[in-house]
Amino acid sequence: MTTTTPRTIDVALGDRSYPVWIGPGLLADATRWRTALRGRHALVISNTTVAPLYLERVAAGLDGLHWSSFLLDDGEAHKTFANVGRALEALAQLGATRDACVVALGGGVVGDLAGFSAACWMRGIDFIQMPTTLLSMVDSSVGGKTGVNLPAGKNLVGAFHQPRAVIADTDTLVSLPDREYRAGLAEVVKGAAIGDSAFFAWLENHAAALNARESAPLIEAIARKVQYKAGVVARDETEQGERALLNLGHTFGHALETAGKYQVLLHGEGVAVGMLLAAQLSERMGMSEAADTERLHRLLAAMGLPTAIPAGMDPEQLLALMRLDKKNLAGTLRLILWRGVGRAEIVSGVGEKDVLAVLERAAS
Ligand code: NAD
Ligand code: GLY
Repeated sequence: MTTTTPRTIDVALGDRSYPVWIGPGLLADATRWRTALRGRHALVISNTTVAPLYLERVAAGLDGLHWSSFLLDDGEAHKTFANVGRALEALAQLGATRDACVVALGGGVVGDLAGFSAACWMRGIDFIQMPTTLLSMVDSSVGGKTGVNLPAGKNLVGAFHQPRAVIADTDTLVSLPDREYRAGLAEVVKGAAIGDSAFFAWLENHAAALNARESAPLIEAIARKVQYKAGVVARDETEQGERALLNLGHTFGHALETAGKYQVLLHGEGVAVGMLLAAQLSERMGMSEAADTERLHRLLAAMGLPTAIPAGMDPEQLLALMRLDKKNLAGTLRLILWRGVGRAEIVSGVGEKDVLAVLERAAS
């Protein structure tokens, strides 16, 4: 295993600022990440897929602390309040005091639940993120959104609670299944599409290398996406404005995920199709050019991501699901739309006829 100087991105939030370290061999480099642990107790939260692969590396670095682990079963269905309760029980059994630390080892499901558990224990203790999926490295581990699902909907309960550090060990990505990897690439493309046209052009030139998971371009792509997100979070931590732009493609994407009962599309795949639908709608509304839509389409396709509405989904049903989105105001659709590569904006009062026309075209 190689240990090199990692790329470091700071999330600048005053006395709650923290580093995101990105590179190979970081889990085993405990001298670095132990600096983020302040107390004597640590609870590692992971799942039954990730723990057998990587818990040992983390455990080796916890020497001398009182620590234990709490493992979730694998899957979105386990990001529940009941499991937060179990994680809190595990902290109680450990005798965790206010200087204890929760360590989240896994993808976004583990990270969101572990972060929320840390936010709840004694009204908020430290946690560190050790993301092991591409999606969690470039998105969910950075920015402090934590939470769990309810039967009524995804991510309905949560808290803003920033980690003390994010340790993105890119060696862990070797075991990530192909679809999960590509779903993470969609979140990389999203950051570039919203706010960084130079990065978008770079991705166009490096799609093949990223498909091959080549280490240097992969680290560069993760770092550039994290850099972009860190800037947005530093300017708008609690999503009063700019941070909402990070949801480009999400209103369409959530409708597609829900219509498929979460069995047809992964979140990142829904975001890929959703971004393209948002681009097509923006073009139809005269906000962007066909050439921009075409570039986005080509890049997503080059990364092996879906670009069409899955067969059998009904446009009217998708529109009905979009009406339920949290961003909507006063019964009108409010969407993140596109001004072309590198520019997005929030638009209220989007016409349902235009949305339906785009959905019908993409479904046929
Ligand atoms: P995930 O956590 O379910 O991980 C995907 C799959 O990969 C799982 O089966 C997992 O066990 C497996 N896995 C993880 N790391 C692996 C590795 N290195 N090798 C082999 N298998 C591995 O999914 P995800 O895409 O990482 O995260 C999705 C979750 O993130 C959703 O719950 C979503 O709501 C949340 N999310 C949160 C934010 C945020 O800002 N907090 C942002 C985006 C998404
Ligand atoms: N994933 C969107 C956000 O962190 O705001």
